[in-house]
Amino acid sequence: MTVVSLQEVTREHGQVHALRGVSLEVSAGELVAVMGPSGSGKSTLLNLAGGLDRPTSGSVTIEGEDLARVKDLAGLRRGSVGYVFQDLNLIPSLTAAENVMLPRELDGVRTGQARREALAVLAEVGAEDVADRYPEELSGGQRQRVAIARALVGERRLVLADEPTGALDTATGDEILQLLRARCDEGAAVLLVTHEPRYAAWADRVVYLRDGLIVESNAVRLESSR
Ligand SMILES: Nc1ncnc2c1ncn2[C@@H]1O[C@H](COP(=O)(O)OP(=O)(O)OP(=O)(O)O)[C@@H](O)[C@H]1O
Ligand SMILES: [Mg+2]
Repeated sequence: MTVVSLQEVTREHGQVHALRGVSLEVSAGELVAVMGPSGSGKSTLLNLAGGLDRPTSGSVTIEGEDLARVKDLAGLRRGSVGYVFQDLNLIPSLTAAENVMLPRELDGVRTGQARREALAVLAEVGAEDVADRYPEELSGGQRQRVAIARALVGERRLVLADEPTGALDTATGDEILQLLRARCDEGAAVLLVTHEPRYAAWADRVVYLRDGLIVESNAVRLESSR
């Protein structure tokens, strides 16, 4: 089952052609890595896939819903899409646990239940001990784990992760990839931007972007390297 589908998507910022006609489908249970040089359009692709940005032309559908036509885009995003931003975007006035709880509370989950879910997913990413600290009191790696917990909470069916291993050492990066892979094996679709071949090896498929176009797409699945 296709979870997200981009059809001939372009995105222009004035004279800058960030994406120049990209088509990509990601199915439930599939982990697709997106690689490519700085400025090639990786973050733009993720933003469009998650409905955070609109294409200049072409279409994006999530679970069969055309994002250009959906009435409650914010609701669809909250319910279906988990996002790990390149710059994390944690809310500074909320603790780690509150950051993770927020999307669930916006979905109408009661505070007690949202907190239990948040603590469980923080434990899953190895950050339960910092649950009641504020982002500014966390190390880069701890912030990264909290941002990942926020994307994983609530069984989201599409997880978009922009360099989620950026501030992490390789052992921790491997743990994060293991979590994303597990979420995938439970049926989520995952799009992962990474510069590291080490992490791309966890993917089912690697898509290479250059100057806003997909220049190569390879199946990987190197079971032996895991
Ligand atoms: N809001 C914007 N206004 C103007 N140009 C933009 C904007 N956002 C992105 N771009 C341009 O679009 C192109 C693609 O940017 P994008 O952020 O998608 O690259 P990237 O592959 O994620 O790079 P990096 O690896 O550095 O994160 C770049 O040339 C960038 O300068
Ligand atoms: Mg980027």
